[in-house]
Amino acid sequence: MSVFAGLDEYIRQSRPRFEEWLGRLVEIPTVSMDPARRNDMRRGAAVAVEYLTTLGAQATIVETGGHPLVVGGWIGNPAWPTVAVYNHLDVQPAVEPEWTREPFKFAVEGERYYGRGATDDKGPALTALLAARYAVEQGVPVNIQLVWELEEEMGSPHFAEGLANMDSTRPPQARQDAPLPVFRKPDSVVVSDTIWLAGGRPAVPYGLRGNLAARLILETARREAHSGLTGGVARNPLTELAAVVAACVDAKTGRVAIPGFYKSVRPLGRTDRAQFLKSGFQVKAFAAAHQLTKLRVRDRLEVMKRLWAEPTFEVHGFVGGYTGPGVKTSIPPRAEAKVSMRLVPDQDPAAILRLFRTYVRKLNPDVQVETHGMLRPYVADLGGPYTEAVRKALRFGFGKEPAFIREGGSIGAVVTMAERWKAPVLFLGLSLPEHGYHAPNERFDWGQASGGMKAFAAYFDEVSRITGKTKGSRTA
Ligand code: BES
Ligand code: MN
Ligand code: MN
Repeated sequence: MSVFAGLDEYIRQSRPRFEEWLGRLVEIPTVSMDPARRNDMRRGAAVAVEYLTTLGAQATIVETGGHPLVVGGWIGNPAWPTVAVYNHLDVQPAVEPEWTREPFKFAVEGERYYGRGATDDKGPALTALLAARYAVEQGVPVNIQLVWELEEEMGSPHFAEGLANMDSTRPPQARQDAPLPVFRKPDSVVVSDTIWLAGGRPAVPYGLRGNLAARLILETARREAHSGLTGGVARNPLTELAAVVAACVDAKTGRVAIPGFYKSVRPLGRTDRAQFLKSGFQVKAFAAAHQLTKLRVRDRLEVMKRLWAEPTFEVHGFVGGYTGPGVKTSIPPRAEAKVSMRLVPDQDPAAILRLFRTYVRKLNPDVQVETHGMLRPYVADLGGPYTEAVRKALRFGFGKEPAFIREGGSIGAVVTMAERWKAPVLFLGLSLPEHGYHAPNERFDWGQASGGMKAFAAYFDEVSRITGKTKGSRTA
């Protein structure tokens, strides 16, 4: 009898647990970048360990210099292949004015699950977990280990340290004579933290952009001054910072003006172009999903190239001055710009940072540059048994063939895992564009969760049959 015979029934029966567990997790505001949420981060990690152990997995918290990791799973037999499943349980802040509900209050409306983190990435994490439990119950000959990060949304500053600490970690509940440590080096990794092209259109990325985030800070006085008394002589930090930003990026084209910025950008290859063209990406659907009302370009290939294979420079926040009603005619003492650059192969974040610092110093030597994370871009070879396993899994779970594309977002842990474990990293994402990554009224849904459980169960079965030396992945 097939290991899948009881799968639909298992998924049906798992629904109440999935909803209850997702609800509890969503209601813990695990906003990693907010120092005030430190305690919630610990609570989130503790709940995650509880879920794993409730399902019969070994699990433990791995400490780092920042927020911890949660790792656990089932090592059934060291002779079996081992797959690591990566998700993150931290979330972005939820302060957008367009929220029409409490971001950290879980709401179920029919098949939809609302709340910050529902789709990025708590829903997919629990989907993979429940599928793992099924595969283990069925005796699928594969070791499954879950790696749940709690600093992904801040650029994974302690992830490498966490992996190093993991090697020596045993679960607190393991008996002294427990035969196996909780964690072994995996043969492959599957990351569930990406989005499809659209509902009904599964997409599997084979590349991610990197990221270099920074704050630009300029202080020109000790306190605010009356512009009638000082204007013309006092230096205005908002004006000066705006000029620095304007000199970094062409507002109309988006072209980055930092000297040397494009020098190491790898031109789009023929395979990339062919994959993009046959992906089914639609500009209209893309704009609608993200509620974009104006675009820089509309040509289909040009849009995909810009999203997946070209670097950017964006301003995320401009801080300073008076923001209350009316106009207060003062000169602010200090201004800050929050910026980031998406990077593509073969741009090196450290080299780009040097170019950026040099350029900013030349433009305005009084501007301080403070970095907030440097993530390298990632691109893998397409093809091989793992790509095939993902394709089969998605077809089994959702009845659709996935498109293989690149992705514009960044996941800091990916390059770290690929390098440390010398293992191929595959993507099996379950989120949809309309779920609203980082957006107001973020949601997940049962259709993606139930299909996702099927897909993951099939994936575990597929990887249990991949043995021996196989083609790895290349990092950029
Ligand atoms: N899940 C996303 C990564 C992602 C974004 C995948 C878009 C596919 C499409 C992840 O949680 C994320 O938001 N990453 C951040 C990292 C940043 C804070 C360094 C990102 O891409 O902005
Ligand atoms: Mn994510
Ligand atoms: Mn995210």
